[in-house]
Amino acid sequence: MTKFKRLLIAATAASLTLSSLSAQARDFRLGLITPPPHIWTQAANDFAQELNEKSAGQHKVSVFPAQQLGNEAQMVQQLQTGALDMAFLTIAEISNRVPDFGALYAPYLVDDIDQAAALLRSDTATQLLEQLPGGVGMVGIGYGMAGMRQVLSREEVTSPAALQGKKLRITPFEPIRDFYTALGSAPTPLPLPGVYDALANGQVDAIDMDFDSILILKFYERANNLLISNHMMFPMVGVVSGRVWRELSEDDKTLVRTLMRSHLDSVIDRFQQQEKSQEQQLRALDIRITEADRSTFADAINSWETTWSKKAGSLDALRQAAADIKGS
Ligand code: BEZ
Repeated sequence: MTKFKRLLIAATAASLTLSSLSAQARDFRLGLITPPPHIWTQAANDFAQELNEKSAGQHKVSVFPAQQLGNEAQMVQQLQTGALDMAFLTIAEISNRVPDFGALYAPYLVDDIDQAAALLRSDTATQLLEQLPGGVGMVGIGYGMAGMRQVLSREEVTSPAALQGKKLRITPFEPIRDFYTALGSAPTPLPLPGVYDALANGQVDAIDMDFDSILILKFYERANNLLISNHMMFPMVGVVSGRVWRELSEDDKTLVRTLMRSHLDSVIDRFQQQEKSQEQQLRALDIRITEADRSTFADAINSWETTWSKKAGSLDALRQAAADIKGS
């Protein structure tokens, strides 16, 4: 984030502090699936603290990490009824309900984490959020993200073709299921908190994952073959229940939007900053590394495109935005 942007956010938040004082005090609940050490959870805690400070103690946010309130499908239901106020969600569950969001998971839509960050900050990606109130009854505040997707496996995988027939853990959502089905593997949907045990007890042969989670959740202890493929970006979205949003004053809406957006944006910054060094950390471990690129996934990508070009109307616009970023 630029210095100017930080100053602007601070100034907006400061000017809202006084005018928010008369608004109704709220005790918000924010759910997410990531464990306490994860950057998303840290950002949720930082947002909670800053909202409390900037509302002069009026608003509190209790953060429930690690699926304490249920998996994402359950949290989406709670957000729809207003039983849950806020969440940081993978786009996975959203794309199951609003297929246009599946376009964000187009294989090799972007080549690296910097392009992913730029695309998620683009107007084209931001406009997608306008579909959330009508599509799922939530207000999309902004995007965060995790690192680019890789494949970690128990046995050596010399190329994507070697994943055929393998039980491969995926985050539970359709675009990634279709990608690995097209590759000939057996995608096994499993939320993040269950992954370590599934690898340890042999329930899965391999996992679709990012560098950060492989390191902080120590998945490399249970599988020591890493296929560095960077095949997809992994957006996250910060949302507020539509029902809850309607009850907020205009000042509170602006305060929540401004602060949550700035913490989501910091998540993007942090993943951008650490991606290369985390790759180096993994390369320094005692694990076998293989690299793969778009050409080695060509057939699976073609099959994915055939399905998702019909389902996700925003695919062409996102591809154009990504091409502009690559060419800039
Ligand atoms: C996953 O499902 O792989 C995942 C979810 C949230 C953050 C990082 C990874």
